[in-house]
Amino acid sequence: MEEIGKFLGWATAVCFGMSIMSFVVKKINLWIIKQFEKESQLRMFYGKFMRFIIRNHMYFGIGAGALAISHLYIQISNGKTSLVGIMAVTLMILTILLGVAMKKIGIAKHKWLLYTHRSVVVMLLFTIIVHIILVG
Ligand code: HEM
Ligand code: HEM
Repeated sequence: MEEIGKFLGWATAVCFGMSIMSFVVKKINLWIIKQFEKESQLRMFYGKFMRFIIRNHMYFGIGAGALAISHLYIQISNGKTSLVGIMAVTLMILTILLGVAMKKIGIAKHKWLLYTHRSVVVMLLFTIIVHIILVG
């Protein structure tokens, strides 16, 4: 049970990392890829890869949320808990709710949703790192 709990924790972290890639791929595109010619194979391939990551980041995010709740359940069943872990799962649920709200009502007139979504992700990243350092 202990190993499953740890595995679920790492699986949550990996899915969360894949969601964050949505930001990273855009920056790589802006800073590096845009310097190549429009018709270059690299630029065309990268464009497809970037769209794949951006389009699917929400599924990785929802997966991360489901895995985090399973991890929480296993840790509590093992008689273990973590305050920072609970903070992380709370921020993750908030991130997902903000993402779903953006999908439902759109971003154009509600830019604050995107800014809040991004800011909560930064806090969540920091919280997860602290959680792993404290329990590891
Ligand atoms: C752990 C969960 C998630 C993380 C870490 C995450 C991360 C991010 C980040 C970093 C951005 C900003 C990209 C940029 O600045 O250009 C973003 C944008 C966005 N997210 Fe999420 N997200 C998560 C979950 C979700 C979910 C569940 C949904 C919807 C169901 C969602 C919908 C969106 C939308 C609509 C945008 C703005 C457009 C775009 O760049 O795709 N996100 N997300
Ligand atoms: C976003 C949410 C979370 C992530 C990404 C996460 C991630 C992780 C990871 C990667 C580990 C394994 C560290 C190692 O191998 O040493 C771990 C362990 C642990 N987590 Fe979480 N966690 C989250 C939420 C929670 C929550 C809500 C709780 C509350 C019950 C919790 C309690 C624990 C405990 C007690 C351990 C130590 C397990 C052991 O040593 O057997 N975590 N977590």
